Parts: sequence; structure tokens; C-alpha cells
Amino acid sequence: MSSSTPDDRPKATAVAYQGEPLPNVSEDLVVPNILSLDFEERLWVPQAPDIWFRPILFNVSQGYFVNLLRVRRSGILSRHRHSGPVHATTLRGKWHYLEHPWWATEGSHAFEPPGDIHTLEVPDGVEEMITLFHVTGAYIYVDPHGAPLGVEDVFSKLSSAKAHYEKVGLGAAYVDQFIR
Ligand SMILES: [Fe+2]
Repeated sequence: MSSSTPDDRPKATAVAYQGEPLPNVSEDLVVPNILSLDFEERLWVPQAPDIWFRPILFNVSQGYFVNLLRVRRSGILSRHRHSGPVHATTLRGKWHYLEHPWWATEGSHAFEPPGDIHTLEVPDGVEEMITLFHVTGAYIYVDPHGAPLGVEDVFSKLSSAKAHYEKVGLGAAYVDQFIR
């Protein structure tokens, strides 16, 4: 379009909300580079030998958390029961549950219903598995007959992230940005 031609392009129709914000609305939370996994090593919280998690969101008011789980070993990781629903998007590697025929492969999304009891295995040959988990309620770790052995939820994840960030110099308050 030359400078002498009138600009007859349609006027922008995008209009932002003009009113007052609603009361007590939490801040948005945006975490960049989720797919490229390009963030500093200190953000990975050790969970067990060769297993780490990277917090995305600790939702203490609704009892769920979102995190990336990184595993650099193969074999059985845990047997657990879910008290709430779980969503799992696999970003690297693959894994499965001994109790189910399906595999979580790179780019796949799985829904785990509340009450499901299963045993997570990373197969031989997978050097690194990274999965984005959205976990409501608790992991209840169980023996092969379902007897409870331990529990993990948004509050235990929050506690271990706080302790780790304090230890590596980021400070315990570093987790505050992930809490809603
Ligand atoms: Fe699970």
C-alpha cells in the first residue's frame, strides 16, 4: 500500500475488557519453555535416585499439582493408587503401567481415573523419560495387595520443593510463584 492510498483496511475489532477486575482473582501463572525443557538444572527437585520433578503449579486451594517428572533410569518406579484424576502428557521417552495394555509414548496424553491402582515401569533402553503430570488428590503408594505404604500430594511436593530450593540457593520462597 503506497502512502497516498487511504487505509481502508478493517479497523481492529479486538477490544480489551473495560471493567473492573473481579475481586480476589489469583494472578495468572505462565511458565515458558515447557516443551523445549530449557530451564536451569536447579529447578529440578530430586525425588529419588535418578528421579526429579520440576514444579509448574502447586494448587493448594483445590488440592492438585502440575509438574514435570524426569526419570533417568529404567525399571519399576512405584506402585500407587490415585485418589483423584491424573493427566499425563509424555514429552520424552516412554513408560507404562504393568496393569494396562497401553503405553505412554512421546507426544501422547493419558488420563488416569481416580481409584486406578497401577505400577509404573520405564522399560530398558529409555535413557530419559519426561512427562507432564497434572495430579489431583494424592498418590497413595501401596504394596501388591493394596495396603498403603506412603502418600504424596500437593503439600508434600511443595515441602520438598521448598527444602530443595533453599538448599541450592534459590531460597525457600522461590516456590511462592507456583502456588495458587
Ligand atoms: Fe499413576
